[in-house]
Amino acid sequence: EESVTLYEAMGGEETFRRLVHRFYVGVAEDPLLRPLYPEDDFEGAEERLRLFLIQYWGGPNTYSRERGHPRLRMRHAPFVIGPAERDAWLRHMHDAVQTLDLPEDLEKRLLDYLVYAAHSLVNAPEG
Ligand code: HEM
Repeated sequence: EESVTLYEAMGGEETFRRLVHRFYVGVAEDPLLRPLYPEDDFEGAEERLRLFLIQYWGGPNTYSRERGHPRLRMRHAPFVIGPAERDAWLRHMHDAVQTLDLPEDLEKRLLDYLVYAAHSLVNAPEG
């Protein structure tokens, strides 16, 4: 359907809510990633990532109204992100994407983007 946006085809807000919630369930149990999130719960982090992804995929631009320009490399500069952190982050995202039961083409687009984005945020060498 021409009139259906990519965001709508992906299932809209509900899809991203489920994706990011499931992702942080995995992160919460990850010994490498958990220490990067000093808050007791992931409520704030979950909301920021959800709103960013919604905006990126063509949904409402609430993220930028609340947070300004994403500047993701700058915002990740305080965290040491080497290949191990990147791969752990991607593993939890991959697991979370699998639970969505998206059509194959949309699942591939989403995964391809996440892999690309995660690689672009590495800011430290291995070890
Ligand atoms: C924020 C870690 C990749 C999007 C954060 C935070 C951490 C983190 C610790 C702070 C949590 C918070 O918001 O309070 C990582 C690690 C990554 C990674 C270890 C591994 C490569 C990504 C990727 C994206 C992303 C690939 C986008 C597709 C965001 C966003 C925020 C955030 C939107 C909130 C920025 C803000 O508005 O303050 N990340 N991240 N991250 N991350 Fe990542």
